[in-house]
Amino acid sequence: MIANKPGGIACAKDRLVVALDYPDRDSALRLVERLSGMVGMFKIGSQLFTAEGPQLVREIVRSGERVFLDLKFHDIPNTVAGASRSAARLGVSIFNVHTLGGAEMMRAASGAAAEFAAQNKEDFLISAATEGSPDSSRPVVLGVTVLTSMDSADLADVGISSDVDSEVVRLASLARDSGLDGVVASPREIRLIRERVAADGFIILTPGIRPVWSAVGDQKRIATPARAISDGADLIVIGRAITEDPEPRAAVERILEEIQV
Ligand code: C5P
Repeated sequence: MIANKPGGIACAKDRLVVALDYPDRDSALRLVERLSGMVGMFKIGSQLFTAEGPQLVREIVRSGERVFLDLKFHDIPNTVAGASRSAARLGVSIFNVHTLGGAEMMRAASGAAAEFAAQNKEDFLISAATEGSPDSSRPVVLGVTVLTSMDSADLADVGISSDVDSEVVRLASLARDSGLDGVVASPREIRLIRERVAADGFIILTPGIRPVWSAVGDQKRIATPARAISDGADLIVIGRAITEDPEPRAAVERILEEIQV
């Protein structure tokens, strides 16, 4: 039995976000169709979005699937507010920003998402798609703290002298205090954030997940789906363990068995 279940997570499939790391719409839509109804959400990142644009996001949302738009906005508050309104207009369930953009930028993002949703309640596309949100009428806004590809030496190169853990705690706390709904965190940071930032009520979405039966690939700081969830993650993002499996539906079934709530 898994304790952490924020609103909208009713069963194991709601916790699973599948990364559509594809170069074109046909490959992405093929997987969406194959996994339709089996997973909680699909993640569209900068590769697919830059290739296919907002039309593909609309198409997937209109097909009844939930979308996490992983574009990690990082700009002046006014521009991020505009980008956040655009994301809300697309009907995505989750989008994210870089916490290094600062408190004002994060407040601008969550404020704009809430404001857009409030003004457009009638024709807001997301409706059922946002059940996972603390306020189901608007998209969830998450913060990226330290990129999972960076270590303390990389932080030092950009002038940050703290170690990764301290920086993650600092930025996650700032995200919480700036009104974000949660953060994206690597498996090794989940417990730290639960202990030092928020025991619950603050969403943790975790990439870097490898089921025990799948290849490790280039991932270094990895965890199994069950471990990530028992450590306190709400949502897990999985790409290649599903997309590169010759039987993606069977891969999803095996993962869901592993994280049954
Ligand atoms: O490794 P996998 O294919 O499961 O990655 C799925 C997604 O998780 C990718 O789209 C990437 O954005 C994200 N990821 C990450 N940090 C990692 C590995 C992957 O944020 N260390």
